[in-house]
Amino acid sequence: MKTIRIKCRETAKESVIICRKNVLSKQLASDLPWLKERGGIVFTDSNVFALYGKQIGACLEGLPVFTMPAGEENKNEQTLFALLRAMAEAGLRRNSVLIAIGGGVVGDVGGLAASLYMRGIDCIQVPTTLLAQVDSSVGGKTAIDFCGVKNLIGAFRQPVRVYADPAFFGTLPPREIRCGLGEIIKHGALNARLFGELLENRSRLTDLGFLASIVPENIQIKADVVRKDPAETGLRRCLNLGHTTGHALELSGADLSHGECVLIGLLYESRLALRCRGADGEYLSSLGSLIRDVLVCDPRAFDMRSAAHLALLDKKNTKKDSVTLAVPLRMGEVSYLELPYAEYERALEKIGRTL
Ligand code: NAD
Ligand code: GLY
Repeated sequence: MKTIRIKCRETAKESVIICRKNVLSKQLASDLPWLKERGGIVFTDSNVFALYGKQIGACLEGLPVFTMPAGEENKNEQTLFALLRAMAEAGLRRNSVLIAIGGGVVGDVGGLAASLYMRGIDCIQVPTTLLAQVDSSVGGKTAIDFCGVKNLIGAFRQPVRVYADPAFFGTLPPREIRCGLGEIIKHGALNARLFGELLENRSRLTDLGFLASIVPENIQIKADVVRKDPAETGLRRCLNLGHTTGHALELSGADLSHGECVLIGLLYESRLALRCRGADGEYLSSLGSLIRDVLVCDPRAFDMRSAAHLALLDKKNTKKDSVTLAVPLRMGEVSYLELPYAEYERALEKIGRTL
């Protein structure tokens, strides 16, 4: 068992992240008395409910369960408001708790509902995908997609607890494992020790035992950044590596999940970085080859022109005709670029031809 704490200067409350086995049967079951006393609601999605509904019902007996249809396409205002309605109908009070059990979609929508209900109630995150354990459940970013833009409506609110249990990986389809590796490689690009471990274990990057062993380290890397900059005013922008191009690709209608888009975005953005002064070619080439090990699709197969256009909608942009992005420069060092749209579009097309 490993416990990681995030106490931010800006927020009075501490976020406690516990990596352990038997989260449902031991941790949540032992939390049940205080959850019942304060009033709680379980929020999950249809796939997770089909797999773990019985166990959830047994461990959290007596708490209402609200289930959203699985999928990014449902990370929207309809789901958010349906959940808020269920919270009101369940009679939740200011001291009640929302328990989000699922992947990043459930975590993001559940976290946002918790931050809005009565101006904010506590949220416990129980991440069930690799991506959600190493990234989305930690750090307090919550959101829904809106008007065709990823995460346009959201809030920063740290979960009071995060319970990460690698046993959930046992039911994940291989594709979802690869998605989580996108965020793990992103952390590796920022941390020499993790990068070394990933390179040393290239032949078993999708091995569940290996992945379980590196979850706490990934959480620690992210927690160390969030602790210093919870609201992304500076340092935390480094966690957006690969995400500008990745989010744009995700919105372009390509049949790709968030994690796959991050992998492809990181591949393109590591090539973009080669143009920057001080870029470490050897590091960027190792990063590229790690990504290629994990990607099962051809990164040249997508319409990068449409993606480039969608990057103009990115929340990080501060100018109408420019794209703002964080690119990996050398180990642990990120460069922040503001590229005129035409230049970004040309660069992506060129990179696509030379990959
Ligand atoms: P997801 O939540 O859609 O989960 C992927 C799929 O796996 C879904 O079909 C889900 O039902 C299923 N699933 C979940 N747990 C399972 C299990 N144990 N066994 C079998 N199937 C399971 O997607 P995701 O990849 O977890 O998260 C992606 C989302 O996270 C995106 O919306 C992205 O924007 C968001 N995100 C947020 C942050 C943040 O800091 N808040 C960071 C990264 C990503
Ligand atoms: N996933 C990026 C962040 O949490 O800041």
